[in-house]
Amino acid sequence: MTDVTMDKIVSLSRRRGFVFPSSEIYGGMGSTYDYGHYGVLMKNNIRSLWFRAMVQERDDIVALDSAIILNPRVWEASGHVGGFTDPLVDCRTCKLRFRADQLDQSSCGRKPSKRPGETADCDLTDARQFNLMFKTQVGALEDESSTAYLRPETAQGIFVNFKNVLQLARRKPPFGIAQVGKSFRNEITPGNFLFRVREFEQMEMEFFVPPADAERWYRYWVDARFDWYLKYGVRESMLRKREHGEEERSHYSSGTTDIEYLYPIGWSELEGVANRGDFDLTQHTQHSGTKLEFVGEGDERYTPYVIEPAVSIERIFVAMLVDGYDEEVVAERDRTVLRLHPAVAPVKAAILPLIPKNGEMVEKARGLHEDLRKKHVVEYDDGGQIGRRYRRQDEIGTPFAFTVDDQTLEDDTVTVRDRDSLAQERLPIGGVAAWLEEALARPWRTPKA
Ligand code: GAP
Repeated sequence: MTDVTMDKIVSLSRRRGFVFPSSEIYGGMGSTYDYGHYGVLMKNNIRSLWFRAMVQERDDIVALDSAIILNPRVWEASGHVGGFTDPLVDCRTCKLRFRADQLDQSSCGRKPSKRPGETADCDLTDARQFNLMFKTQVGALEDESSTAYLRPETAQGIFVNFKNVLQLARRKPPFGIAQVGKSFRNEITPGNFLFRVREFEQMEMEFFVPPADAERWYRYWVDARFDWYLKYGVRESMLRKREHGEEERSHYSSGTTDIEYLYPIGWSELEGVANRGDFDLTQHTQHSGTKLEFVGEGDERYTPYVIEPAVSIERIFVAMLVDGYDEEVVAERDRTVLRLHPAVAPVKAAILPLIPKNGEMVEKARGLHEDLRKKHVVEYDDGGQIGRRYRRQDEIGTPFAFTVDDQTLEDDTVTVRDRDSLAQERLPIGGVAAWLEEALARPWRTPKA
């Protein structure tokens, strides 16, 4: 367990406008969240860093954006209609629902709360299978023929486009298709803030390989994804790879490794990397009648195997907040600081006039802000005493603050303050843009133990 609690993360997220409960004025919507300004900026950064590593910096992966509502037969072929279920029990007394396989982690609705089934009043039903897909109706008719589903994963939209991409993007295995987008699951027990929600943004990549190379590529992607977290500053001591035993693996998988993070709830899945074999392409070939295979030179012809790294922005978002959250006492005052990697931090720099009523300082600070915002998300702040403005920037994880003060008016230099070390130095105001560029490109390691 870490000493950073989920309550502290929820409280900071709310206090600083990263994330708040959805539909709050109507009493919320059970484990559904809205993202405020800094949350949106941070999510954008996570998404684009993933996309950069998976698509932009590679020759062998292309992008896709498929629909959320697909032909319902897709979900029959994929096995989701028949098998995307969790075992559910109802309590006839407290009217709550629990996952039958997680009763030991659930709380009964009676007070003092115990585990479901532990009090004399508990009256649990037998377990039944509950499908996690959200059903909807498409078109004006409301009958069986119009039933459709909100996608519970982005992956199937990739498989059904395999032939299109193979032809139009002129690819041959090994190659991948990457997609980012919302997925929906009617989780029985959502919770732990954003860790398990009903609506989340998945980032998935399906990598199609010759069957004989599948094991090698599976190992490659487990390592590549693990290293991505290290690159963006997540502490190695908080990450681990955990390979599933045979009994734990999904029906389609011949190998799965979870990249786990030590969340405040304990070691839990951050990202999964699976060797899905030829399950998906074979299923869609059989159900659609369209052959999804690779036909090469001569008599080369095979159904590629698929290696899939899959993660949600939400799980990365929480892991990075937990990893960055720090509290310390500086000059006898408490400081809460988010030690985020500068590439992940929502705001890259703050520009602060020391005395907000001083017109000359404001003018110089505004000028610097106008200059820097052309390339980066930066923030001008003249609200309140300077110490409080620093604290505010610390709490949203802004790595650098440039302060315009009396000396600036004499020699056109500003102070730059480093969020992590609190070191300060002076720079010519004309050199700030280049300095920031260089500082943001430097490798970064957290000072957190
Ligand atoms: N296409 C494979 C697939 O969807 P999964 O393990 O069910 O596999 C992949 O999900 C990833 O999606 C997980 O590792 C996790 O990062 C994220 N995820 C799954 N369910 C989630 C939920 N209810 N809330 C937030 N993230 C979720």
